[in-house]
Amino acid sequence: MTYPLIVVTGATGQLGQTLSRLWIKSPLPQYQFKALDRSELDLSQADTAIDVLAELKPSVVVNAAAYTQVDKAETDSIDAHLVNAEAVGRVAAWTAENDAKLIHISTDFVFDGTSKTPYQPNQQTNPLGVYGASKLAGEQHIQSLAEEHSAIIRTSWLYSEYGNNFLKTMLRLMGEREQLSVVDDQIGSPTSSNGLAALIFAMILKDGYQGIYHWSDGASISWYEFALEIQDQALQEGLLGKAIPISPIATSEYPTPARRPAYSVLDRTRAMAEFDCPGAEWQAQLNLVIKELAIKSKESN
Ligand SMILES: NC(=O)c1ccc[n+]([C@@H]2O[C@H](COP(=O)([O-])OP(=O)(O)OC[C@H]3O[C@@H](n4cnc5c(N)ncnc54)[C@H](OP(=O)(O)O)[C@@H]3O)[C@@H](O)[C@H]2O)c1
Repeated sequence: MTYPLIVVTGATGQLGQTLSRLWIKSPLPQYQFKALDRSELDLSQADTAIDVLAELKPSVVVNAAAYTQVDKAETDSIDAHLVNAEAVGRVAAWTAENDAKLIHISTDFVFDGTSKTPYQPNQQTNPLGVYGASKLAGEQHIQSLAEEHSAIIRTSWLYSEYGNNFLKTMLRLMGEREQLSVVDDQIGSPTSSNGLAALIFAMILKDGYQGIYHWSDGASISWYEFALEIQDQALQEGLLGKAIPISPIATSEYPTPARRPAYSVLDRTRAMAEFDCPGAEWQAQLNLVIKELAIKSKESN
């Protein structure tokens, strides 16, 4: 007997690695699971990528791959659109033509940040930069080519024990510097890749999803407040030896090539109502990852 196959793209990314690690504990024994890295499925080579899908015949494609370099995208629009929009359209069309399903990950950067209340999935989009525009174009391709075969999960401030993210950058700088300044006028919510992976498994288990969902760890905080909590928890878990002063600064004092939304809290009510995925408090989610990093740090010393 052959079991239906779940294919994950972007195996080396934060979400790709988390899905691979949590797969064995997931409630999906009736599926096979295969995570493909860029050498196995390259979204910038769409024809070849489609050949790979045609060969493997997955029932579900989880697109965790993306061009994620937000600042570099400002001067690399062609590549960002190739991976985040055109290739996504090709994969969406393949899933619709082959009776497969697509779960695609998108971003809070499709919004301009002018809202004062958490963004609803159907709220007006207006990306401020190339990365957000390329991700929005990917969403639009999915909705026009594979609406009944797909779900789009927008998430924000994703972090994990893997790869590069704000948590790991803060821990490094807190260990190296005598003091730190962190932006206090961008409000959003961190999202642990563990919770996002749990949502994806819950969606596949239920096998009833369509349209746009929002997912985060339910906070409404600034990067500065996130940094304070990171330092507190890292001190408690022995990841840092001493506290350093952390000062709040304005976005204008930390210029970046790409503009970021000043407010990007996502309302996750729909995802929580439709799937068995309660979502832990953001501080508890952070603690799981910090504990994991503390274990890794002890092992490597
Ligand atoms: N990180 C965030 O803060 C954040 C926030 C909101 C939404 N998201 C979305 O969440 C999803 C997962 O993000 P993440 O943080 O896990 O990403 P990530 O850690 O940056 O990983 C991106 C993955 O995509 C792969 N990739 C890049 N170009 C590719 C291509 N041409 N073909 C195939 N694979 C390619 C990378 O492969 P290599 O290792 O070979 O480069 C890597 O495996 C993405 O859709 C992202 O847009 C992220």
